[in-house]
Amino acid sequence: MEGGDVLVIGAGALGTLIGYAVIKSLDSLDILVRDVSKVENILERGCRASISGDEYIYRPRPVTWDTLDKRYNIIFICTKAYDIPKFIDKLSKAIDESTILVSIQNGIGSLELLKSRYQYNDIYGAVISYGAVKRGTCDTILTGYGEIVIEKGGYSSIIRDILEPTLKVSIVDDIYSYRWLKTLVNAGINPVTVIFNDRNGVVIENRYAWEIASKAVEEGLKVVNALGITLPRDPLNELYDIAYRTRDNYSSMYQDVLRGCETEIDYINGAIVEYGEKYNIDTPVNKYLVLTVKGLSIWRR
Ligand SMILES: NC(=O)c1ccc[n+]([C@@H]2O[C@H](COP(=O)([O-])OP(=O)(O)OC[C@H]3O[C@@H](n4cnc5c(N)ncnc54)[C@H](OP(=O)(O)O)[C@@H]3O)[C@@H](O)[C@H]2O)c1
Repeated sequence: MEGGDVLVIGAGALGTLIGYAVIKSLDSLDILVRDVSKVENILERGCRASISGDEYIYRPRPVTWDTLDKRYNIIFICTKAYDIPKFIDKLSKAIDESTILVSIQNGIGSLELLKSRYQYNDIYGAVISYGAVKRGTCDTILTGYGEIVIEKGGYSSIIRDILEPTLKVSIVDDIYSYRWLKTLVNAGINPVTVIFNDRNGVVIENRYAWEIASKAVEEGLKVVNALGITLPRDPLNELYDIAYRTRDNYSSMYQDVLRGCETEIDYINGAIVEYGEKYNIDTPVNKYLVLTVKGLSIWRR
């Protein structure tokens, strides 16, 4: 693969981390940002990833949707799920029939949307258990170690080889089971942290919070069973485990609501509700969580 053939869309928490891994392997990278002020910012300061207390500065070529001037071999889509419908058509400017797309979004819906819009491309879902927090434009701090799980396919080993010197990557046969497991856990933790105005640890430290979170997960499990998906691990154990390991972190949904931003609730609890309706499974707790988080995020604006 030639240098400069990889594009990262979104210079946020994970985009900046993945960008660092790519440029370390390939020596070049284009990063797509929303506007010219962010391009100037990157040209002036470069991008910065803080990993284990070390600061790494790197210099990708920043582009915007207006200055996109080539087709890429691989595109990592690193925006929030709700941003993808806003640029999905413009993405065709950067794609030809051999472009590989990687979708890292939490929840259910983004990968499905990309696969239906670009049906002739190889599109890989990735589930990320690293934690990263955006400090500014193309400036990120790694806050939790994990791995990137990628769907098995003809090009998954190329993606792994690019990322792996920096990030741990596993390739799995059934990415849907991993995506749903993470969706169920996020459905339990994220909205509960918003309602209780607290860190992830509230889920295991407050028995009422646990009851809401575990009911959201149990409803999700019924939906997953109806879909015929076998999860790689027990979701309630996973809920407890992740809430414990990330007990000092504020969930991204909590931070989004606090900033008055949109949240990914439609792709997490909303996906459980949507698939529940398809299979005639009641999901009252998830419905309540969707409405409450939406209500609180409007109220915060
Ligand atoms: N952060 C984590 O630890 C983590 C872990 C696992 C999974 N995830 C998932 O990974 C995805 C990305 O999360 P994140 O935390 O990296 O989000 P983030 O920090 O908010 O970064 C998203 C970036 O996308 C940019 N963006 C949005 N629309 C754009 C557009 N039209 N053109 C160019 N750039 C655009 C945003 O730009 P602006 O700065 O201009 O808004 C922002 O910098 C989410 O689905 C999240 O659930 C995150």
